[in-house]
Formats: sequence, C-alpha cells, structure tokens
Amino acid sequence: MAGKVTTATLRALKARGERAVFLTAYDYPTATFADRAGADLLLVGDSAANTVLGLKSTVEIGMTEMLIFAAAVARAAKRAFVIGDLPFLSYQPSDESAILNAGAFIQRGCDAVKCEGGQRVAQRVRAMTDAGIAVMGHLGLTPQSMAQLGGYRVQGKTRDAAERIREDARALEEAGAFSILLEAIPPEAAAYIRDAVDIPVYGIGAGPYLDGQLVISHDLLGSFVGDIAPRFVRRYTNVGAIVEEAFRAYADDVRAGRFPAPEHWYSLSEPIVPTAVAV
Ligand code: KIV
Repeated sequence: MAGKVTTATLRALKARGERAVFLTAYDYPTATFADRAGADLLLVGDSAANTVLGLKSTVEIGMTEMLIFAAAVARAAKRAFVIGDLPFLSYQPSDESAILNAGAFIQRGCDAVKCEGGQRVAQRVRAMTDAGIAVMGHLGLTPQSMAQLGGYRVQGKTRDAAERIREDARALEEAGAFSILLEAIPPEAAAYIRDAVDIPVYGIGAGPYLDGQLVISHDLLGSFVGDIAPRFVRRYTNVGAIVEEAFRAYADDVRAGRFPAPEHWYSLSEPIVPTAVAV
C-alpha cells in the first residue's frame, strides 16, 4: 500500500476485514525497520519506561522523555501512522493539560495520541478531538492504573467486567476517539466489545477477533531486559543474545590486539616516525 497511513486508511482496512499491523517503537532505527517492513501503526508507548529506560513502571516516565522518543519515531515513519502515548498525569488533571500535551506530540510529527481509560477520560478525549487531535482509547489492562487494578491482571473475564469495558468503549467512540486498543482481555470478551462500536478496535493480548494486533517490539525481538513476560508474546528472534555475542567478540578482539586491523587505519600523506608504538 503506497502513501502515508491515515485514519481513513485504518477505517478502510477494517471495512475490508484486513488486519492492521501495529508495533511499538521508541527510536529512529527501530521505527525505520518497522516502517520498511510494512507496519501500519507505530505506538511510541509509555512502555518505553520499561523497555528503554529500565524503570519499573510506566508512571515513572514523563512528557520530556516521551517527546524525544516520539520525534525520532515520527521522523522515521514514511508510511506508518504514528501514535504518541500520553504519559501518566499528562491528561488526567484537566482538559487544558490534555490538549497541550497531546498537541505537543502532534507538533513533534505524531499523527495521533493514545490515553488510558474509558468513561472517566471521555471528557478529555472530547476536548482533544475538539482541538483537532486524533485520539486512540486504551481499555482493559491499563498500566498507568496498575495499583487500582491490583497488578498485571487479565481484564474483562466476567460478563459484568466485559459489559463495563463495552460501556467504556462506547463512551470513547461517542467522545470522538478514532480507535480503541484492548489489552489483556479474553478473545470472546474482546470481540463482544468490538461489536459495540464502529471504529477500529486493536488488541494486545486480546485474541484474534479484532481489527489488528499490537506487540511491544522488544518482546517480539527478544531485547527486553526485565521480569515481565506476558503469555501473549511470540518471540521472533533473540536480539539480546545476538547483541551480547557481538559485544563479546569485540571485547575479545580488543584484548587480543586483533582490532583494529590495517583495514581500519588511515594512511599518512608523508612518513612520521611514532615516538611510541604499542605492540
Ligand atoms: O505503552 C505501551 O506500549 C502500551 C501498550 C502496552 C498497549 O500502552
């Protein structure tokens, strides 16, 4: 598919029953590779707190760090639709904070923003969409509310719980959200929620019956350093092991004097006799 992905493209994919490919990215090279590989959406997630910064929780990352990551990803994305993740306390306090912080992502080149919550953030979503900003909602396991949820727990497991998320999805659509992301919800409940709205509904750990799938790129690539290992991840390679092996080989070469070799040296324009040559 040629041209930049837009909200219209995403609606068209859903209408044709084609699944959108959604990945996280936090830096220029990863976003470039994902874009070249044909990802439709890139999320500059606040999961950067865990994946890139080595923090324990997403509530520890703020706008300053997020905007640097977002600008790098937006620069790289020639085709993919880029979503900046509003960090904790960047949209909860007031409509004004939501508009200003969402606007900062858009000014850095993002196409949209994402925020966590349903009915309780519907007013903020309305304020941002009224300001002309495309907003994705995020329901189910919402890491910024981890303490309230009691940990990394699957959501929507009972009829009542699924019903509440379905109401939240409706509230987000009503408030103008262009799409919704469902996290850690059983597939049948996720499909039930998807059926309640007309906008695209994507999933991470929410089963196959959705309009597209998100995976955290570090999980897929095997470059996540930490204890979180969700069952919904499929690892496609082991970048961590590959990188570590390359660093070990370099260390061995330096210590053994095999690096640098003559092909890595610059030549002189005229002879100079060195005063000291390390052998
Ligand atoms: O920050 C992020 O990557 C996210 C996903 C886990 C949904 O919000």
